[in-house]
Amino acid sequence: MKDSHCKKAYITTPIYYVNDVPHIGHAYTTIIADTLARYSRLVGIDTFFLTGTDEHGQKIEEAAKKRGKNPKEYADEISKVFKDLWDYMEISYDKFIRTTDKEHIIGVQKAFEKMYQKGDIYKDYYEGFYCVSCESFFTQTQLIEGEFCPDCGKSTQIVKEESYFFKLSKYEKALLEWYEKEEKCIIPKSKKNEVISFVKQGLQDLSITRTSFEWGIKLPSSINDPKHVIYVWLDALMNYLTALGYGTDEKRMDYWPAKVHLVGKDILRFHAVYWPAFLMSLDLPLPKHIAAHGWWTRNGEKMSKSKGNVIDPKEVCEAYGIEPFRYFMLREVSFGLDGDFSQRALIDRINSDLNNDLGNLLNRVIGMSQKYFDFNIDSKNVLKYHQKELNEAREHIKKLPDFIYNVQTNRYLEELWKILTLANQSITIYEPWKLMKEGKEEEAMALVALIANLLAKTAIMLYPAMPKSAEKIAKALKFKINHENYKKLIVEDKLLDNFKIEKIPPLFTKIEKELLAERKVKKESKKAEKKEGIITIDDFFKVSLKVGTIVEAEEVKKSDRLLKLKVDLGEESLRQIIAGIKEYYSPKELINTQVCVVANLKPAKIMGLVSQGMILAAKDEDSLTLIRPEKPKRAGTPIK
Ligand code: MSP
Repeated sequence: MKDSHCKKAYITTPIYYVNDVPHIGHAYTTIIADTLARYSRLVGIDTFFLTGTDEHGQKIEEAAKKRGKNPKEYADEISKVFKDLWDYMEISYDKFIRTTDKEHIIGVQKAFEKMYQKGDIYKDYYEGFYCVSCESFFTQTQLIEGEFCPDCGKSTQIVKEESYFFKLSKYEKALLEWYEKEEKCIIPKSKKNEVISFVKQGLQDLSITRTSFEWGIKLPSSINDPKHVIYVWLDALMNYLTALGYGTDEKRMDYWPAKVHLVGKDILRFHAVYWPAFLMSLDLPLPKHIAAHGWWTRNGEKMSKSKGNVIDPKEVCEAYGIEPFRYFMLREVSFGLDGDFSQRALIDRINSDLNNDLGNLLNRVIGMSQKYFDFNIDSKNVLKYHQKELNEAREHIKKLPDFIYNVQTNRYLEELWKILTLANQSITIYEPWKLMKEGKEEEAMALVALIANLLAKTAIMLYPAMPKSAEKIAKALKFKINHENYKKLIVEDKLLDNFKIEKIPPLFTKIEKELLAERKVKKESKKAEKKEGIITIDDFFKVSLKVGTIVEAEEVKKSDRLLKLKVDLGEESLRQIIAGIKEYYSPKELINTQVCVVANLKPAKIMGLVSQGMILAAKDEDSLTLIRPEKPKRAGTPIK
């Protein structure tokens, strides 16, 4: 990236929803952003690193209600959990923004006003499908089976309400031009291509206000339409500007445009399509890079609270250490691809990369310097004997900036580790113990000093990823990790001055067995049972199955697959069941026939209609057949 020499850098994480507590997916985004921010500061760029929480919207309102709290009270509580976690993990953010902050609210209203005055916002009616979980609108053709959210798979709601719209379609051409002109505006390239093809399909104007709930930012008073609140994504994206004082005290606006917005692939569309369009409307420059990472799964499955497979980053850090966790997250997967979290893989990284390659190398250099030179290190003959090794190290170091600017943290660390391999191999090749025996003290010193210098250079470049470990190495080698030493040891490729090594405790310890609490393991075996489809008899008895008689049946309008049934289950009133069987049965042939019904299923809304149960059917590739009692039975007869 050509802008690597810029003077200021603004680096952001997404702001996290407060309807859930943090898990390793959130930690991943934050750790990468922290690494980029630390790197940026180290190389001398004035850096501003932002993180925070996203606190408005229907999802948060509902989560608060469930817990009997008001939304603000609830948001305060969860926002603090995020902030405390980042503090515990020593994330070097410069500001933690909350979308309930007064300055943010003012800034969002000012932006809305500006877009409105510009003619980019108009009032109309919105009718469509809304996924509360993703806070997103969809057209029916985008839905799975005409009903479910294409992003998260949950049921969508039909919404028809008055709404203000943002003229997204107006910016379609300008967006395509931007993608074309700025090669690295979206990284990695595969993700950029996805965005381009999405935009090429045509952009519809975006509904940016809601009237069906209250927990959001009101429209600016100049528009005077109190029943509307601003759509949560417009509100949330604006955090990147309001954190710099947009609309209030604009003293930090010179950090704009952002150097990099770090996001997960699931929220790339919002950042790579809506956000630049909003910015164009506000006459502001566009971010330099939007970098989208993949998802962390657990045993191949998406993590979610309901599945009980969420991993708490704090628990991992407490068990294995913050720095090994950081190293693992940054090293294990290629940027943009998904990764699977396993304790085994983490332990392997700790034992082999951290303990063997890095920790032991430091121990060896401390040990050799103690044994042969009373801890003294003198670099004066390193060049004489080890020009080749120094050149090789320089070649590795030269490659690092590109990796960091392309957010390829895995390749960055891989390259850095080549210097450690070089150092470890040099000990094997030159055998300092032999040199000492042969009285070649000058050569032995040159070698030990070479190792110390290779470690020092590694430590400086390791600092963004593992700041504490890097500082420990620097402490042993009597220098400080800072921009001056970065210039000296990396840019100018100089060597350490003479010094006395300080003996420090080992950097890492070898891990024998998995350390995460028993509770987790139990959960895992429970999950394994689930995976194999094994349930207990108690699980089975939780399902109430009954014989039902279909009394009424009709087609659901605008749906290719749904029928609306009224079923007699021997209860006071008939049950309404929405069933996806229209392709296989006509309403007429169903009336007065019997079916098997799951009677204690939580009611759900399907295409805006309440469904109070489910009928059983067998389905293969060719057809679907309803499961019916062999002989007629009284409506409501339990099935065992
Ligand atoms: N509030 C929005 C972002 C608004 S930014 C203007 C949001 N919040 S989130 O809490 O749901 O997600 C925040 C980030 O965490 C996203 O980048 C998302 O991709 C990331 N992750 C959430 N789960 C994840 C994994 N399992 N794995 C990796 N990252 C994932 O979206």
